[in-house]
Amino acid sequence: MGRAPELPQRAAATSAVVGRSLEAVKPGRMIAGKFRVDKELGRGGFGVVVQARNLTIDQVVAIKVLTPSEESAWTEDAARFKREAQATAALRSEHVVRILDVDFLEDGSPYMVMEYLEGETLHHAIHTRGPLAVEEAVDHVIQVLAALGEAHGAGIVHRDLKPANVLVTRGAGGTMVAKVLDFGVSKVGAYSGLGTESASAQPITRTGAVIGTGAYMAPVQMLDAKRVDGRVDIFSVGIILYELLTKQTPFGPPSDPTIVSTMLTKPPIPLSTFRPELPPKLMRVVMRCLEKDPERRPPTPAAAAAALAPFASLRARAALDSLRRAPGPTGAAAPLEKPAPGPLAAARRSSPTLAIGIAGAVVTVGLIGLAVGIFLASSDPGSPGGRARGAVEAGAR
Ligand SMILES: Nc1ncnc2c1ncn2[C@@H]1O[C@H](COP(=O)(O)OP(=O)(O)OP(=O)(O)O)[C@@H](O)[C@H]1O
Ligand SMILES: [Mg+2]
Repeated sequence: MGRAPELPQRAAATSAVVGRSLEAVKPGRMIAGKFRVDKELGRGGFGVVVQARNLTIDQVVAIKVLTPSEESAWTEDAARFKREAQATAALRSEHVVRILDVDFLEDGSPYMVMEYLEGETLHHAIHTRGPLAVEEAVDHVIQVLAALGEAHGAGIVHRDLKPANVLVTRGAGGTMVAKVLDFGVSKVGAYSGLGTESASAQPITRTGAVIGTGAYMAPVQMLDAKRVDGRVDIFSVGIILYELLTKQTPFGPPSDPTIVSTMLTKPPIPLSTFRPELPPKLMRVVMRCLEKDPERRPPTPAAAAAALAPFASLRARAALDSLRRAPGPTGAAAPLEKPAPGPLAAARRSSPTLAIGIAGAVVTVGLIGLAVGIFLASSDPGSPGGRARGAVEAGAR
């Protein structure tokens, strides 16, 4: 913890490789001999998403192509990407985007074929009509928790939950259905963990990009990617709900260069600062999700959803029911990687001196975070955490 992150030791991919991947998904191009690319839907930190048509069965799909960063090629990550996509494809929740296929372009760039979703991301909703009514905000989040309940039960932690990765579409009868995108994508390539020690859990090193978007990332994830369990997603859910309710983020603007160190060392700004009329009980649930010590957060998606249920509409009941049916002793999923106790909690139990030592280490890492924040800000001040370079909202259509 606290030592300088190591850079990945990988084959260098030139910008020519990145260019080739993008060229391969230009409108009119064919992928795998059957998907005709129709238009680009947007770009994020990992690559580009296009709308395409499967000419064999005349089906509209969305294809996400992960472009290699300029420092790293996909050779080591290809198998991992495939495994993650296969695991995600097995999820049945109606709140997880359907994965239809996964494969590789000729240059080795992985891509996944998804169901095409017509709708708007929560990022778009917040920025065009936020803050949202309590019921709508809570309904969206309970549906996200339903997706997480199943995923965590299957051993999949999202790690990059943020409003841009939740797309709200219309279900039967016009009801709003939230779908979580990009499960498993953040495990591919360099990703979160400022103080990670393994070569497979690299720090934030994509060109101008933080992997596991900084402004939504739980402190444990920033400190040590190996300690990550489902509760990092609960933290991100807390930030999403906070933002839906206030149009603000709890640790200051995501584009603030000091956001990472603020998140590591400062408490969230009370929700009442922005929206004093919110029910105090609801504010307490959001604040619990944002606890720095994972042990103080709702332990599972089911627990978080149960605490939010009184503020949801009747329509959200189906998602709540599916959470109640999720595996695990408390009605929800057990995390894949059983966590050691949160560092501060464990230290507090064993020795106050150690707790002070760890707090000191957190401040040290905070300083690293400050440097990273400056790095982020220089990439793209307009995108959350400075990562989603040039992201275009599908919802703006
Ligand atoms: N299945 C889909 N159907 C329709 N639009 C989609 C689908 N998947 C992604 N999109 C849209 O494509 C755009 C780009 O998504 P992308 O995931 O690349 O960016 P991002 O979420 O901002 O960043 P990140 O790479 O961190 O996930 C987004 O606006 C998203 O709404
Ligand atoms: Mg995304």
